Amino acid sequence: MKSLNVLSVTSEIFPLIKTGGLADVAGALPLALEAEGVAVRSLVPGYRPVMAALKKAEEVAKFDDLFGAPAKILAAKVGALNLFVLDSPSFYMREGGPYAGADGKDFGDNALRFAALAKVGALIGQGLVPAFVPQVVHAHDWQAGLTAAYLHYSGGPRPGSVITVHNLAFQGQFSAATFGALGLPPQAFSIEGVEYYGGVGFLKAGLQLSDRITTVSPTYAQEIQTTHAGMGLDGLLRTRASDLTGILNGIDTHVWNPETDPLIAAHYSTKSFAGRAVNKKALQERFGLDHNENAFLVGVVSRLSWQKGLDLLLGCLPILEACDAQLALLASGDPGLEAAFKEASQTHPGRVGVYFGYEEKLAHLVQAGADAILVPSRFEPCGLTQLCALRYGAAPIVARVGGLADTIIDANEMALQAGCGTGLQFSPATSEALSGALRRGADLFRQKKLWKKLQTNGMKTDVSWTHPAKHYAEIFRALAHPAP
Ligand code: ADP
Ligand code: GLC
Repeated sequence: MKSLNVLSVTSEIFPLIKTGGLADVAGALPLALEAEGVAVRSLVPGYRPVMAALKKAEEVAKFDDLFGAPAKILAAKVGALNLFVLDSPSFYMREGGPYAGADGKDFGDNALRFAALAKVGALIGQGLVPAFVPQVVHAHDWQAGLTAAYLHYSGGPRPGSVITVHNLAFQGQFSAATFGALGLPPQAFSIEGVEYYGGVGFLKAGLQLSDRITTVSPTYAQEIQTTHAGMGLDGLLRTRASDLTGILNGIDTHVWNPETDPLIAAHYSTKSFAGRAVNKKALQERFGLDHNENAFLVGVVSRLSWQKGLDLLLGCLPILEACDAQLALLASGDPGLEAAFKEASQTHPGRVGVYFGYEEKLAHLVQAGADAILVPSRFEPCGLTQLCALRYGAAPIVARVGGLADTIIDANEMALQAGCGTGLQFSPATSEALSGALRRGADLFRQKKLWKKLQTNGMKTDVSWTHPAKHYAEIFRALAHPAP
């Protein structure tokens, strides 16, 4: 198998900078692709935590004026990641997150910040750094969406281009006035180019102009072609249906391994479950829950947004009581939802425990200690928390949408008879259906043998990147220009 060079263009990468699953994917997929003979370098913005992680870096290109500011490209290795870092301090060395300031407001110049990332992705794609000339450029989400546009309108020879949609809800829409600053030719402002409902659409541009489109589950690939879930882009996606593929995400099974995880209270495996009880106790303590090993402990690790459907859970609190269930919720986001869950923890002391914030370490304990992990999303491109849950023997209870539908086998009668259920699905995403699923979960939990089978099935499921990486590698090989 000949080796192939791929440039991944991404606005987040684990463990350096993360707001969600995109970072996990961008951090883990390159390593899995190595085994497929694909050498990946990742181009990332030089945010503060990224720059701080660079021990040794080599300057491989320099710009006097990249969208109004000087910039450099640094090549560096951080852990196992091969990076190109776009060092443009005025764009990226800021307080706050990758997209918004400490006040939570999006940065006013995000269009230029991510146009710069995409432009540099395209330039590397066309040979700017002779030491690494990619045959394929792989862009992630709207932040890298313009990469395909810069490649397309350059007119010169170019590598193959792929865009992966991690979430169609974030589209990178900017006003028409932005167009002039992007350095694209006038004809790019058209329906065949970057124009989107009268403005500029970064994701739209990527979907329109990339050779191939992938998204992160087969079901989501179908859903986004419907008016119901297409978020304004379904028409375009239907026209590109033959170039659109859904590939499930995996997780890093070294980071997420209950047999070796340094972030949990005790190790365990399918052969020895004793450590799970230790983690359950530690989790109950950490979240101020009553210590009761017979309570059905439901965990949540999530952003709090409309997508994730956690407002539905607020309507199910009486069910927790009725089923002798407990809730450990680790989440952050919508202030209204945070306030509502805080109140729930006060009105249900010992039964509802909450922790607001983004705590990587605590996420591991929730997975290791909860009996079930709840993911009641209204839509979910793939979802990673249910994959972690499978691996950790916490049965996922999920809404039957997107990647949740594709990754969890509902433990219905027949599945149980066949011995193949891994969790519970419910539909539609309503409090009533969720209540029903919680009742079913609590019932099953009390049938110890069946529950253990569910847990074991989950823990034996292959949630690694091995299979998905093969699929990506096939797509990359089919596109490689020039052929390797
Ligand atoms: P999304 O990217 O839509 O938020 P995913 O399920 O794909 O959803 O990925 C979420 C990732 O972020 C997972 O790795 C999960 O463990 C992590 N995560 C989400 N919320 C928190 C939190 N409050 N604390 C720690 N980790 C979190
Ligand atoms: C997005 C989606 C999530 C997916 C993740 C990684 O954030 O919301 O479903 O797992 O990207 O692809």
